[in-house]
Amino acid sequence: MLSLILLCRSGFEKECAAEIASVAGEGGIAGFPRTKEGTGFLEYPLTNEHNAVELARSLDFCSLIFARQGFVTFSTITDLPEKDKLTSIMTAIKAFLAENSGMAIPQSVLVESPDTAEIEGLKAFTTSFMHPLTRAMDNLRKGKKSDAVNRLHVFFSDYSKVFIGISRATFSSPWACGIPRLRFPKNSPSRSTLKLDEAFSALLTPEENQKFLAPSMKAIDLGAAPGGWTFQFVARQILVQAIDNGPMDKSLMNTGLVEHLREDGFTYRPRKPVDWMVCDMVEQPSRVANLAALWLREEHCRHLVVNLKLPMKKRYDEVRLCLGIIANQSGHDDKLIIRCKQLYHDRDEVTCFASIGPKG
Ligand SMILES: C[S@@+](CC[C@H](N)C(=O)[O-])C[C@H]1O[C@@H](n2cnc3c(N)ncnc32)[C@H](O)[C@@H]1O
Repeated sequence: MLSLILLCRSGFEKECAAEIASVAGEGGIAGFPRTKEGTGFLEYPLTNEHNAVELARSLDFCSLIFARQGFVTFSTITDLPEKDKLTSIMTAIKAFLAENSGMAIPQSVLVESPDTAEIEGLKAFTTSFMHPLTRAMDNLRKGKKSDAVNRLHVFFSDYSKVFIGISRATFSSPWACGIPRLRFPKNSPSRSTLKLDEAFSALLTPEENQKFLAPSMKAIDLGAAPGGWTFQFVARQILVQAIDNGPMDKSLMNTGLVEHLREDGFTYRPRKPVDWMVCDMVEQPSRVANLAALWLREEHCRHLVVNLKLPMKKRYDEVRLCLGIIANQSGHDDKLIIRCKQLYHDRDEVTCFASIGPKG
């Protein structure tokens, strides 16, 4: 029996389960979530027979809000030996490739584990396992065609249990465990800069990054102080109006690219339309969603990123409510793009990107 494996932020397994049950159900994929709070992942065993490669072709794990990473299993080993784990894993991979003889050997292979400290040393072990596995896969690939369409996943839930599976490379995260390796820029005034940096790489395509984030564009940052998000725009030579009663970082102001306005982010509107609005104000998520919808509806901006701080309970319901507000009240139904994710740098929050596309 095949399963889906989803990796998420520890403590959000229930939300991740509710979301996959809804998405898989809509796609006619029957299963049931197996979750344990605090484990940072969930298994979703499927009740019907499926072909793993075909199933992976139809499941876009990137579009899930609460899953950082996802794949379809083709083998689960529950009694890995203490010493030589590689032989058992390679035997399973070779058997799968033999059964799917039309398939070339995937170029991309990730070794993953839950993002928790629950099992001591497991993360370090998986990092060290990447090298021998990559070497074994390179040997297998020698003289053969390789495949850029699919990705192999080797996920250790503990030292003796491994789920081996497949995803479509464009439908899963290229980063192991869905955790991007972003460097904290030393001049940034706050660590939240990484949130917007991750949002740009996880929620926009590389083409959108180039087109939507060009030098000399204009952005408005609501709740900007001390300036971590503004920093991301300045690094791209984008002009920013920073709205906040609090003080902005001096070196950011010295760039000459930032204008600081001590105004209320909920009532402020630009005199002329801008390219971007971003908002990191700590407020009720539905209030922020309504503000986002208004900015798009009245075309004050073309694109936006807003952070939605989640309540303690019914967090999945709250996200759906907010996305509904943005989808239904922004206008531009035909061209509106909405993408939302709980990023690695998000805590009890999700980040949402919405766009009505470029001008003209
Ligand atoms: C989480 S911090 C923003 C951090 C910022 N994104 C960064 O990267 O440095 C939230 C900010 O929102 C501001 N804020 C909250 N309510 C606001 C409002 N109604 N209008 C303007 N700013 C507001 C606060 O003063 C605070 O500086």
